[in-house]
Amino acid sequence: MRFLVTGGAGFIGSAFLRLLLGPARGESSFDVVNLDKLTYAGNLENLASIAGHPRYRFVHGDICDAGVVNALVADVRPDVIVNFAAESHVDRSILSPAPAFETNLRGTFTLLEAARLHKTPRFLHVSTDEVYGSIDPPHEADENYPLRASSPYSASKAGSDLLALSYFATYKMPVMVTRASNNYGPYQFPEKLIPLMISNALEGKALPIYGAGMQVRDWLHVEDHCRAILAAIERGRPGEIYNIGGSRALPNVEVVKLILDAVGKPHSLMQTVVDRPGHDRRYALSSEKLVRETGWQAAIPFEEGLQATIEWYRNNAAWTARVKSGEYQHYYERNYANR
Ligand code: NAD
Ligand code: DAU
Repeated sequence: MRFLVTGGAGFIGSAFLRLLLGPARGESSFDVVNLDKLTYAGNLENLASIAGHPRYRFVHGDICDAGVVNALVADVRPDVIVNFAAESHVDRSILSPAPAFETNLRGTFTLLEAARLHKTPRFLHVSTDEVYGSIDPPHEADENYPLRASSPYSASKAGSDLLALSYFATYKMPVMVTRASNNYGPYQFPEKLIPLMISNALEGKALPIYGAGMQVRDWLHVEDHCRAILAAIERGRPGEIYNIGGSRALPNVEVVKLILDAVGKPHSLMQTVVDRPGHDRRYALSSEKLVRETGWQAAIPFEEGLQATIEWYRNNAAWTARVKSGEYQHYYERNYANR
């Protein structure tokens, strides 16, 4: 099977490439091309373990560039396109919404058009539970739940989901959409809650908690997410949406306390800061459809995955220091200075 993966140098995309080509799979039957623009979030270091693989090729380019995308799809003739490429951070999309709209909407459109032109047999668009917006307890969103995006990021993802699904309805293109809950694990850029809190805790810095920290997120290990995407490609049905929920729903403050306890730092490092505008209170997903149709199950319990993730950040301080140098400092200042 020939894969064209976009955004494969990011957090989840790189985990997916390691799943396809890493040693755990033995002799891989996959050929993989990775198209990535290498934004602040793209990092080829994340792919060091597979960079020399004979069945892997990296292409530096933008999914919004129709010339690049069309030429690549014509050349690779992929059996499947998996679209991870995105501006993925809510806070950045609040500070500057334009990049989210450009990549998440126009980029997805450009890929869909190339797939239509070249009759790509399968297209999986990677999306998020944030498109459902905040969900009151005790409800869970299934795939028919209304879309109520709250941030420029989630609105751009909801729009790209609808666009992708319209290509199934209109052109009978075999498109699928997956919507996952909050991921965590190694190589996550330290702008998101878990890696930011681990990294600040390890450095003994303040841990900024938005508002009262009572927002609930459902945590999914990145490797469970990647196995779910592969299951959807191999056993899912075209034209369908599949939710991918995590193994544990917790208020933010409880997650941060677990991190501080594991690192041996006092809870007093938590610092309440002004809340995120439009902050969704609770995400909750039902993955029953994916489980029923593909047999996938989340396999990594949260406490175990969190402990291993903390160890990974402890052992990869040089990776964190490199990604936190330069642009990151500027972002941190913009996002946190006046809260
Ligand atoms: P990330 O920010 O870590 O990585 C994004 C990658 O996309 C980077 O390698 C970046 O260089 C690349 N990229 C960005 N714009 C591009 C463009 N125009 N052309 C080509 N490449 C481009 O993101 P992530 O956390 O790995 O998320 C991957 C996907 O999964 C996104 O679509 C996101 O919406 C979705 N998702 C993320 C989560 C999560 O918790 N992180 C949960 C559910 C869904
Ligand atoms: O739910 C899936 C989504 O999860 C993905 O689509 C997004 O790409 C991903 O970024 C993530 O979005 P969230 O906004 O839920 O994740 P984030 O890690 O930014 O924040 C998680 C929670 O922690 C949220 O309630 C906000 C809070 N938070 C976050 C940061 C960065 C804080 O309290 N302090 C912080 O400094």
